[in-house]
Amino acid sequence: MKRLKNKVALITGAGSGMGQAQAKLFAQQGAKVIAADINMDGLEQTVAAIQAEGGDAYAVQIDVAKQSSVQAGVKSGLDHYGQIDILSNTAGILDDYKPTLDTSEELWDRIMGVNLKGLYYMTNAVLPQMLERGQGVIINFGSIASFVAGGGGAAYTAAKHAVAGYTKQLSFDYGQKGIRANVIAPGAIETGMTKEIFAEGAAEVMESVNSVPAGRYGQPEEVANLALFLASDEASFMHGAIIPVDGGWLVK
Ligand SMILES: NC(=O)c1ccc[n+]([C@@H]2O[C@H](COP(=O)([O-])OP(=O)(O)OC[C@H]3O[C@@H](n4cnc5c(N)ncnc54)[C@H](O)[C@@H]3O)[C@@H](O)[C@H]2O)c1
Repeated sequence: MKRLKNKVALITGAGSGMGQAQAKLFAQQGAKVIAADINMDGLEQTVAAIQAEGGDAYAVQIDVAKQSSVQAGVKSGLDHYGQIDILSNTAGILDDYKPTLDTSEELWDRIMGVNLKGLYYMTNAVLPQMLERGQGVIINFGSIASFVAGGGGAAYTAAKHAVAGYTKQLSFDYGQKGIRANVIAPGAIETGMTKEIFAEGAAEVMESVNSVPAGRYGQPEEVANLALFLASDEASFMHGAIIPVDGGWLVK
């Protein structure tokens, strides 16, 4: 029995990394996938991979930091599949670990725009039809930087802490109306965001990456498995949780 049969999932950041891994896994589990990203090349790869396996996916180009783009993209997805049951807000960008004095206002606004305001735009565009149907699952991507310093710079860590607060409030306000919202907080995962950092292998970065209990960085599929659980009815009692999938990074 497929775990997401008859569900439609909109996944942002679906052109790479953990968004792409979720898109493929959700489609394998029977979901129709609205794959959203700012990067059309990545999206086309994702949709082609899903269709090659007999899955159902539809690409929409969305810049999550622009409200008009979000509204147009969500409308296109809804016109195509008629409903959205699962929203995974996965798109995100890194701030190159910049401390506040090295963070320009432009960088601050860019990080907040994608990593935080983008969730607000996406959620407000998708939530009304979830509420009309009395059901919906929202998965927001935080980070170990939702808990501790050192997983990003000033803007990134501030935004990822705010993702935790935003999601708790979503649960508080809409849980009893059928909406389950939770945060996935990955540790170091090999994706488009980190590939170069890991490949360059700067000694102090690799020491913190490899000193976790798992002794290694993770793969996007290891995070997608958690997303699948949260998206499925198996997670029916999960509300407002901030769940690390970090190889044990946070035990330190
Ligand atoms: N990789 C890690 O180690 C790590 C750790 C903790 C948290 N995260 C978080 O996980 C999420 C997924 O990251 P990833 O590692 O898979 O990164 P990735 O770079 O592989 O994928 C991110 C995707 O988001 C898309 N994107 C960027 N800006 C966008 C915008 N304005 N509108 C729409 N799409 C946009 C990119 O085009 C890309 O396809 C992010 O929120 C990230 O902050 C990553």
